[in-house]
Amino acid sequence: MECSHDFQVLRDRAISETFVRSFEAHEEIGSTNTRALELAGRRDVEHPCLVIADRQTAGRGRGANRWWSSSGSLTFSLLMRPDVERLPLARWPELSLTVGSAVCASVSSFIADGDVRLKWPNDVFLNGRKVCGILVEVPPSSTGSIVVGIGLNINNSVDHAPEELRQTAVSLCDVYGEQLSVSDVLVSVVQELERQFNWLSDDVDRVRQAWRKHDLLLGRTLTIGDERKTVTGTATGIDDDGALLLQTEAGLQRMYGGAVQSFE
Ligand code: BTN
Repeated sequence: MECSHDFQVLRDRAISETFVRSFEAHEEIGSTNTRALELAGRRDVEHPCLVIADRQTAGRGRGANRWWSSSGSLTFSLLMRPDVERLPLARWPELSLTVGSAVCASVSSFIADGDVRLKWPNDVFLNGRKVCGILVEVPPSSTGSIVVGIGLNINNSVDHAPEELRQTAVSLCDVYGEQLSVSDVLVSVVQELERQFNWLSDDVDRVRQAWRKHDLLLGRTLTIGDERKTVTGTATGIDDDGALLLQTEAGLQRMYGGAVQSFE
């Protein structure tokens, strides 16, 4: 199968235009997140390290989600070490939301009139459909590193997606009307990530405004939980620490985890 990316261009631009310091490219791999988690234990890998793949055979998502990607999509993971002094991993929900709002900012810069939303904690929706999935993980062996995995539909029109995704997913090219430069999008997403992670340490109000500006769930009735327990209520916003605020029959609840199973 032909590779849809020019890895040399992606590498050169990532290294020269962003904070990425090392780069690994694969035509095919199980999951870029799994590979980045492996690299976290290696001393010879400079951070931030970007692992990119043309195709994933076992792309992972949050909970039971899997990630569909095909030729023309952007699938990568960034192994990075946020400044742990200033940005402790205890601020996990904020880290996770910030990745989502960085992608929102980047997508908005390409699709100026698009309705770009952040579905807590970090799915990105474009015109009511999911355009990007994000999986943030902490390597078990390495303190201070995180892996930020991003799957963004760019030139893989959902016309070619499996039937069940055609109504719920979208690709940038479906809205933009023509193909985009994958390297432009990669550079923009990584630059936005760096910018918003810096806000998280230096100007936290600014990043909170960014999550709230794009909040998809605000005012909606939703059900959140896992296979053991679900909670239904109305979303009243995102708190300063990244918790989803849910007004339920039992009162206001603060959600830090769990998948939003449905919303209306
Ligand atoms: C979700 O929608 O639940 C998250 C999907 C995250 C997919 C990306 S693609 C790159 C990286 N590698 C993976 O295996 N998953 C993430």
